[in-house]
Amino acid sequence: MGFLVRFLVVTSSLGLAVLIQNYRLLSRSLPAPQLDLNEYWGPGSAENYVEDTTVKPFNIKVNTELISDLKAQLSRPLKLHEPLEGVAFQYGFNSKELQNIIKYWRDTYLRKWDENEAFLNKFAHFETQIQGLRMHFIQVKPKNAEGKKVLPLLLLHGWPGSVRELYDIIPLLTTAKPESEYVFEVIAPSLPGFGWSQGASKVGFDTARIAVVLDNLMQRLGYDKYIVHGGDWGARIGSNMAALFPQHIIGYHSNLCVALHPLALFSKAVRAWLPNFSLNLEQRTFFRNFSEESAYLLEESGYLHLQTTKPDTIGTALTDNPVGLAAYILEKFSTWTNPSFRKLPDGGLTKHYTLDALLDNVMIYYITNSITTSQRIYAEALSETQTHLERVHILTPTGCVRFKWDIMHATDNELKHKYKNLVQSTFYSDGGHFPAMEKPQTLYEDLLAFVKKAAL
Ligand SMILES: *[C@@H]1O[C@H](CO)[C@@H](O)[C@H](O)[C@H]1NC(C)=O
Ligand SMILES: *[C@@H]1O[C@H](CO)[C@@H](O)[C@H](O)[C@H]1NC(C)=O
Repeated sequence: MGFLVRFLVVTSSLGLAVLIQNYRLLSRSLPAPQLDLNEYWGPGSAENYVEDTTVKPFNIKVNTELISDLKAQLSRPLKLHEPLEGVAFQYGFNSKELQNIIKYWRDTYLRKWDENEAFLNKFAHFETQIQGLRMHFIQVKPKNAEGKKVLPLLLLHGWPGSVRELYDIIPLLTTAKPESEYVFEVIAPSLPGFGWSQGASKVGFDTARIAVVLDNLMQRLGYDKYIVHGGDWGARIGSNMAALFPQHIIGYHSNLCVALHPLALFSKAVRAWLPNFSLNLEQRTFFRNFSEESAYLLEESGYLHLQTTKPDTIGTALTDNPVGLAAYILEKFSTWTNPSFRKLPDGGLTKHYTLDALLDNVMIYYITNSITTSQRIYAEALSETQTHLERVHILTPTGCVRFKWDIMHATDNELKHKYKNLVQSTFYSDGGHFPAMEKPQTLYEDLLAFVKKAAL
């Protein structure tokens, strides 16, 4: 054997040994981080804080001055620029379509605000105080539940959504069907800083700390064992809850399962370069290829960088600016529902949603003045605790459902580095980022199938 061959054999064996050693280290679960379960996030000092642990009924009641002021703002001449010739939503929200939406908002939606407000109040709302924060939530007990297995289900929304995303799926979940042995009792909070839930006054309120607040909420309500479902930030927070409170979370179901575990990122890199090795034939058409995914990420993640670094500046631009707020939020409901909607002059907004539903969601941000606080979640999310949590294995039964046009997807192999008990993995050939609103029946059935498979 020549020297060079011997050298190569030795170095590659060493390399392999290092790889195996690191793989073994990396594939081991880290222990869950120990977080302070009573950490105070309200304003000022915690010293004089006495938590008001009562759970009070809450009613959405917007004062009439706010509504008439909003009408006045929406009546001012819009100094928008014409879109470039032939451009739909490719440069952002189309200003012609925005004019239509503002007109509908002012002349139709706000005229019947009392009706819309009553609709938002159709479920029972409550508030309580957790760790210094006022927390708002919807709670719906099941109907016709005799003889059924009632499962408590924490439903989590994301950004730029709200509890309004969940209005169509809640009745499906809470109405017992003769053919199903299960029915759900739903708890749907506004995430802290979103809607009627107070945002933190202190830095460091990351997606791990939010998980603590939400588990405390569930404990306050007496749910020792429950399921969590979420997409978007709700997915990340729900996953953290399963990692931090495995004794409480009996199932985790998500329409945006993501694994940022180092080995998952490695698997993702392999998929980028050797797609045929990672994906079966069917999946090759489902997943975006590497160049598509990179292009999509570059074109569509500007908001993410902005909100991660300067949430308060962009928040200021959108505060008390209903026209800008609607454009900023609804652009996401267009593109994240289907990226091809960028080519449609109306952004395809009403293909799957009603304008009333979309405006309800914008209104929630507007009336609670919560756009800035909602965006701070991006700035806090990249914490050390979160990086650590990515390496905590989740043994809770997990169900991952993917809708074709969502903003990103992971393969089972990527997810299995973190989710060690993936009992259901599904792919739907359409649908986007807001399935609870767009495809409530499909999402409901997927969740039900998961619960059966996991025998919860
Ligand atoms: C990968 O598979 C596709 C069919 O799904 C095929 O067209 C393509 O040539 C394959 N690429 C490589 C590098 O084998
Ligand atoms: C990636 O997908 C796009 C759209 O389907 C296609 O045009 C492009 O050729 C694909 N690129 C590679 C490297 O397969």
